[in-house]
Amino acid sequence: MLSEYPELVAFLPCESPQAWVQWALENEELLLVDHAHCEKKAASTAMSLMYRYVDRDNLLTKMSQLAREELLHFEQVHKIMRRRNIPYVHLEASRYAHGLRQHIRTHEPAKLVDTLIIGAFVEARSCERFAVLIPHLDDELAKFYRSLLKSEARHFEDYLSLAEEYAGEPIDERIAFFRALEHQLIVAPDNEFRVHSGPPKAA
Ligand SMILES: [Fe+2]
Ligand SMILES: [Fe+2]
Repeated sequence: MLSEYPELVAFLPCESPQAWVQWALENEELLLVDHAHCEKKAASTAMSLMYRYVDRDNLLTKMSQLAREELLHFEQVHKIMRRRNIPYVHLEASRYAHGLRQHIRTHEPAKLVDTLIIGAFVEARSCERFAVLIPHLDDELAKFYRSLLKSEARHFEDYLSLAEEYAGEPIDERIAFFRALEHQLIVAPDNEFRVHSGPPKAA
């Protein structure tokens, strides 16, 4: 499945650890609840970029479309949760987003470029995780996650191309910097299972 997205695979530092996949399958309800939060958060991140950068035409067009798609994904996860009687509850955010976002530079356009690069990693990792889960899921969830792959892969491309557009200089080094951080967050043992967590700490 991921072989359809070679650029996305090359962008990520590593595959998800098998121990994370196992952890996800043991926590299917939590996976869906956190997934619902992720979709909502993705929409809200896109919206906040639209508030902050009103003079960036391509950003406005792409982020508006992205926000609508993420809200649609939210509705789809939420519907599955309701059908399965899975209560929607608040969750503490995973360490992943903060672990990346704390390194965003504070001056422009570096702040925008870093935010967009992080967006590309979040979308690419989500896509990769949905793909590795699909073979293990029941028919309904497998079908749903398969339907998400294409849009999350496109979101990855959108974030990356906006980062390139607004940087005004090569961003390879900055991508490599965030790739190393992302690698750590994905392979280092984590306290709580989340869509973007590391593997569980050994018992
Ligand atoms: Fe999504
Ligand atoms: Fe997305």
